[in-house]
Amino acid sequence: MTTSKKESTASLVADWEALQRIFIRPEKDHGRQRLVKYMEQILFGLHDFLKEHVGITEDVSLQELSDRYMDSEINLLPSQKLADVIKGIIDNIAPHAVNVASPYFIGHMTSAIPFFMVHLHTIVAALNQNLVKLETSKVVSIWERQLLSKIHRLLFQKDTSFYADHIQNPSSTLGAFVEDGTLANLSAMWVARNRLFPNCDTFAGLEREGVGRALEVYKKKRAVILVSKMGHYSLSKAGGILGIGNDNVIRIPVTEHFQMDTHALEKQIHQLNSENAAIIAVIAIAGTTETGTIDPINDISHICKKYSLHFHVDAAWGGPTLLSDKYRSLLSGIEHADSVTVDGHKQLYMPMSCGMVYFKDPQAMDAVAYHSAYVNRPGSVDLGIRSIVGSRAATSLVLGNALEIMGKKGYALLIDHGIELAKEFATEIQKRELFELVSSPQLNILTYRVFPESIRKEWHTASFEQKQRLNENLNQLNLRLQRLQRQAGISFVSRTTIEKDQLKQVVLRSVLMNPMTNITIIREILDEQESIFVNHLKERSQQ
Ligand SMILES: Cc1ncc(COP(=O)(O)O)c(C=O)c1O
Repeated sequence: MTTSKKESTASLVADWEALQRIFIRPEKDHGRQRLVKYMEQILFGLHDFLKEHVGITEDVSLQELSDRYMDSEINLLPSQKLADVIKGIIDNIAPHAVNVASPYFIGHMTSAIPFFMVHLHTIVAALNQNLVKLETSKVVSIWERQLLSKIHRLLFQKDTSFYADHIQNPSSTLGAFVEDGTLANLSAMWVARNRLFPNCDTFAGLEREGVGRALEVYKKKRAVILVSKMGHYSLSKAGGILGIGNDNVIRIPVTEHFQMDTHALEKQIHQLNSENAAIIAVIAIAGTTETGTIDPINDISHICKKYSLHFHVDAAWGGPTLLSDKYRSLLSGIEHADSVTVDGHKQLYMPMSCGMVYFKDPQAMDAVAYHSAYVNRPGSVDLGIRSIVGSRAATSLVLGNALEIMGKKGYALLIDHGIELAKEFATEIQKRELFELVSSPQLNILTYRVFPESIRKEWHTASFEQKQRLNENLNQLNLRLQRLQRQAGISFVSRTTIEKDQLKQVVLRSVLMNPMTNITIIREILDEQESIFVNHLKERSQQ
């Protein structure tokens, strides 16, 4: 340890006086100024860092990083001051975190956020409200109900009198804030499952008596959830957690455009009815994770109506498209859903993390109501009564105020930019010989792959078996290319495997959600991929 470090840690003590100091706001000017300086360091120190380091992450191996963090003991005495901690994060953590704010980071659904989100997030921490109950949140619960109704209205378009009746009515629940899209989907399936097996004379309801007994009472062989093959894996988790088994989350085939094949859906429903299976829900995806595709929401809603099935829309990704006048029609039919998932930390540009689930019927969440003696008592306004989570932060304060700052129009600019840039990107891919566009963007996600001339030539006349072999080569090439680009650390696109033409294809996946990303940057990223191919992979591809 150096002398100066020794000196600075010598003043660090854990005693009652020091403890009280960290709970009381400093009265004196110099103490206050110091705290302001720290906030400045966080805002600008980190921002400047991110601006300087346009790259995605510094070139340090995971092994090296793991070796640095091998300490399993909590220190007995205080070892660092707040100032040192902040500096340590800026110097040691930030460079090795991922610069998701870079306009060259176009591979995942995580991106830059407007700077004011940091301020709003700080307010949430400073107020430290707990939305599980009114006694720890008061006006914030009421305020959250207002926000829930605004987004409910965006989704379901009920009239003003509907909202006047339900916004602040404690027996109505228009939706709920949860941690993420996974919990939002789980909440929707939880409600749908319980509503399908309600209580009757001989049965206290599934939530109380369990899945086994519910199937027995309702004389059903099994309970299933239907979603397309492109469904997010959170739905499989839901199948596991809800006790129906994730094999019973049945994947419906998709068309060549990666949208649910509605004929296959109807056929599957007939089959399940003939087998005496109970269908908990049919799920349409408004923006699939891998290709950003939107299922035919209207058609699926008609099928659900015809067979009286719970209709859920997983709009974790695409939901905010409704804020754009230009593109909201892409989600037409979402208003017929029984429940909808929307993620705030995706296209509402919130800091991690914020999931939401909405129900058309304000009484739907009664199916998952829980009470306890010390909070969430029957008849109370406590938001924790109908919620999968217990204690939770006032994330709604961030979202509600972000909507105030941005307005629908501000968000629409972001949404429109992403969709239009994705289209330009697709055109650019089609212009370049090295690439093949695999999924055209409906929203702001697209997939493509390197498809070199040498393989392309053989492909046209190849049999299916030969195509399988060539496809394997292509998969290896694309996998390596994505890895090399990631390791170079300048830009980032992600990779996934999707099935097309009966072949499992490794594809490069781009998510366009950063307003600072433009077509010039996209061209640079494609140029980089071309040069990685020429310098590292071309020879291999010709073997
Ligand atoms: C369509 C869709 N649904 C659900 C989820 C799960 O969301 P989260 O990662 O917030 O749990 C995702 C995540 O990417 C998604 O794309």
